[in-house]
Amino acid sequence: MKILVIGSGGREHALVWKLANDSTQPEMYCAPGNAGTAELGLNVNLAATDLEGICHWCRSKRPDLVVIGPEAPLCAGLTDRLELDGIRVFGPNQAAAELEGSKEFAKEVMASAGVPTSAYRSFTDADKACAYVRKHGAPIVVKADGLAAGKGVTVAETIDQAEDAIRDALEGNAFGSAGCRVVVEDFLVGEEASILALIDGENIALLASSQDHKRIFEKDEGPNTGGMGAYSPASIVNDIVREKVIHEVYEPILAELKRRGIIYKGVLYAGLMIHDNQPSVVEFNCRFGDPETQAVIARWNGDMLPALDAVIDGTLSNNLINWKPQPSACVVMVAGGYPGAYSKGLPIGNIALANEVQDTVVFHAGTALEEKEIVTAGGRVLGITSIGDDLEDALSKAYIAVETISYQGAFYRNDIGHRELRRIIDGK
Ligand SMILES: Nc1ncnc2c1ncn2[C@@H]1O[C@H](COP(=O)(O)OP(=O)(O)O)[C@@H](O)[C@H]1O
Ligand SMILES: [Mg+2]
Repeated sequence: MKILVIGSGGREHALVWKLANDSTQPEMYCAPGNAGTAELGLNVNLAATDLEGICHWCRSKRPDLVVIGPEAPLCAGLTDRLELDGIRVFGPNQAAAELEGSKEFAKEVMASAGVPTSAYRSFTDADKACAYVRKHGAPIVVKADGLAAGKGVTVAETIDQAEDAIRDALEGNAFGSAGCRVVVEDFLVGEEASILALIDGENIALLASSQDHKRIFEKDEGPNTGGMGAYSPASIVNDIVREKVIHEVYEPILAELKRRGIIYKGVLYAGLMIHDNQPSVVEFNCRFGDPETQAVIARWNGDMLPALDAVIDGTLSNNLINWKPQPSACVVMVAGGYPGAYSKGLPIGNIALANEVQDTVVFHAGTALEEKEIVTAGGRVLGITSIGDDLEDALSKAYIAVETISYQGAFYRNDIGHRELRRIIDGK
């Protein structure tokens, strides 16, 4: 059994790690992978966006399964292309991936389906968008329509900020073609959480909830990042919220897609804003979240491969998914300067020692092997993930491992899980 995972981040290392440990002991490949995936299988030197190269590799190597991690190849139609070659793929086709590829499409489908989300308008003309914003008032949210690597959203506290964001996208070409259209939407109040669901075209199986920490600094200050840490479960996603997410979000959105001839298969990530037990959808992603996946996979009990197979075969059931009762925490270590400019190629010490901390695994993100030495190769470098008897225990293990690891300029947040910890303290 040969499995190819596409991507090179912490999410992909977590997927490779989980699948490599499957009881069927598959042979693992990762394109392009990182220094972590290299320890579990073979890295294939092809970029995740090199559709041609990946298809060519698959035609000659005939993997039994391809799992696509990032959004870019999904939105570019890698699933469709591989399926044409008769390859089994985990990941939605291009039409379904449009839920992430176009925020305007996602909003329009949500509106038709009656999924709770903020009211919105979309614009290609800056003057019209600015006029709308002036009439509407702040706070208001401006989003580039297309894929912008997490940098396309401005939560504007003032009308001026919103107008700047609109003009940057529509006139300043700040996001290239991804910003030729903007979605302007109402500001939502509440607490954010993430839900991932496996979907086999028909059946929906929610995975464990989690909460990401987007800002670079503690207390959620400073610029947005790709994610500084996560924990699972997030108790803000209680049973009431979970039921609502199934019946008010997943069921109607999938029915509306189906009405349009689009069948969703893969993982559908709902970014939620929750207020008084009412979830509203902030966005959909057509793939596993990063770093939420690291926290969620750490809690996955038993094999994951049967669930991924069931998604492809249309035989998904909740029986294929079991969770460890222990909560998990993932602390992301980044390069000094990130999300601004940062150096690469810095040697990283003591990863092996950190991996020896009980119930802990160091997932690599931006790492590479240089002459057998592990060096930094990206902004988010590592995601140290632990499970514990409770969240405090998981966090204390993760931070012991974090403090073991050294590289020049290493930076991480010390307050991962702070909202949940506050809830725990308040509940005591
Ligand atoms: N309508 C909204 N109200 C309040 N905050 C929002 C809203 N939309 C987005 N945000 C904030 O901006 C972040 C990024 O927006 P999102 O739609 O998830 O885009 P992306 O992840 O593609 O950058 C969200 O995680 C949330 O914190
Ligand atoms: Mg988001």
